Amino acid sequence: MRKIVLAIYIGLNISGLAQQKELNYAKLKPIIEKKCVSCHRENGYAPFGLENYNEIVKRKDFIKYVITNDYMPPWRANNNYRHFANSKALSKEEKSLILQWLNEGARIGPEKPTSNKKWYNEGSQVNQKPDLILSMKAPFTVPAINQNVYICYKIPFELKHDTFIKAIEFVPGNKSVVHHASYQIIEVADDVDVFSGPDFFQYDADTLNRVKDDHDYKYFNLIGKNGKMPKEVYHNGWLPGTSVQTYPSGIGFKMPKKGVLLIRNFHYSPTPIEQQDLSKFYIFFSSKPAIRNIGFAAFKPNNPTKDGKWYIKANDSNFAAHINVKFHNDVSLLNINPHMHKLGKYFKAYAVTSKNDTIPLVEIPKWDFNWQEFYRFEKMIKIPAGSVLHAEALYDNSAKNAANPYSPPKDVLFEWGMNDDSEMMRLVLLFLPYEMGDEKIALP
Ligand code: HEC
Repeated sequence: MRKIVLAIYIGLNISGLAQQKELNYAKLKPIIEKKCVSCHRENGYAPFGLENYNEIVKRKDFIKYVITNDYMPPWRANNNYRHFANSKALSKEEKSLILQWLNEGARIGPEKPTSNKKWYNEGSQVNQKPDLILSMKAPFTVPAINQNVYICYKIPFELKHDTFIKAIEFVPGNKSVVHHASYQIIEVADDVDVFSGPDFFQYDADTLNRVKDDHDYKYFNLIGKNGKMPKEVYHNGWLPGTSVQTYPSGIGFKMPKKGVLLIRNFHYSPTPIEQQDLSKFYIFFSSKPAIRNIGFAAFKPNNPTKDGKWYIKANDSNFAAHINVKFHNDVSLLNINPHMHKLGKYFKAYAVTSKNDTIPLVEIPKWDFNWQEFYRFEKMIKIPAGSVLHAEALYDNSAKNAANPYSPPKDVLFEWGMNDDSEMMRLVLLFLPYEMGDEKIALP
């Protein structure tokens, strides 16, 4: 017995040594390419590249720091609570290999690394040529007024025929000012000239809740001659950090032949210097028709006050809010997106079935406003009719929260007001009506 144990011990040690000897850039490059280069490349999403040895080695201490602290790759969900198809996190082995290589001095080694991957799109995290790019017509100037700026922006399109979409990616032009964007793809009547009329209008935060379909459709001349109203076919959003939205074969949405992509709520952060933004969408067509159209639902917490005065008090480091929603039909979930602002510290969502089984959905142990996500499940998750979806959010409005916009802390409006400096809780779901076998469909 002892001999076997010894043999295993020696065996492990020898392979450990062999592995150590071989650790050089050529061995590490595939991991870095897979887990870092989608953002860290020329014209990528991150501010610097990690595409070659020199770029990496000059930042080796910094890289060691961000990997040790799980700051990079940016992934804030607890993968032990629920696994996700779009997880960017390093596996345990990948993390220890990178750290070992860095600790040993990040040697280049004698082996030549394989050639660089070619990347297609500026700012995109997808390594595939988009079939269609829908861009703002001209850069929008964000004025140097140090206040939030909101616009509603119309991007018209006309295609040869209706097309099915399997992936859509919003690429912010200027990440230092784009706060968030929620957008809709809208089909219009044949007689509407989508290219005529204005491109955008600006509005104040106070009127945000009053932005109405009717007003916007009229403003952009989207109503047909005999009064035919535009029809929303898809609704989604972008928040700092979110990755591309992609769907499995046969699922997605139909992009109408003619219509507009309306960035309904395009929010720019306050800036003390004038900035320009030219954001765009990369759209990827699917070869198969999308027979099932993705649904979008956003839930708010129940507001216990009627007067619009719900505050997170200054120095309250544990303010809690809840969402409870009952499902009346069987539903298949594809993505889940928790949302709070900068006072957020914790978020968790799960469903409880009528038989009292708990279905874990997402947990964010340490909320980070800069890295939000539409977390995509590995397979669709069935929520049976009669289940209740629960979400809990915690907020820290004390000085201990480094992201607190106020020093010293002050009372902050909750769920009223839409500014950067107010707070909110949202839970967004992308879903389909359940069909038999959905829980076996892997999401890309
Ligand atoms: C989804 C895109 C994305 C991925 C994947 C990614 N990064 Fe980053 N990284 C960023 C962005 C954006 C920044 C700058 C903003 C920030 O620091 O949050 C950044 C910043 C950094 C920084 C500087 C940190 C600082 O505080 O300024 C380092 C070092 C870094 N990344 C290393 C890595 C490494 C190593 C990997 C892979 C193991 C990786 N990143 C994966 C987007 C990414």
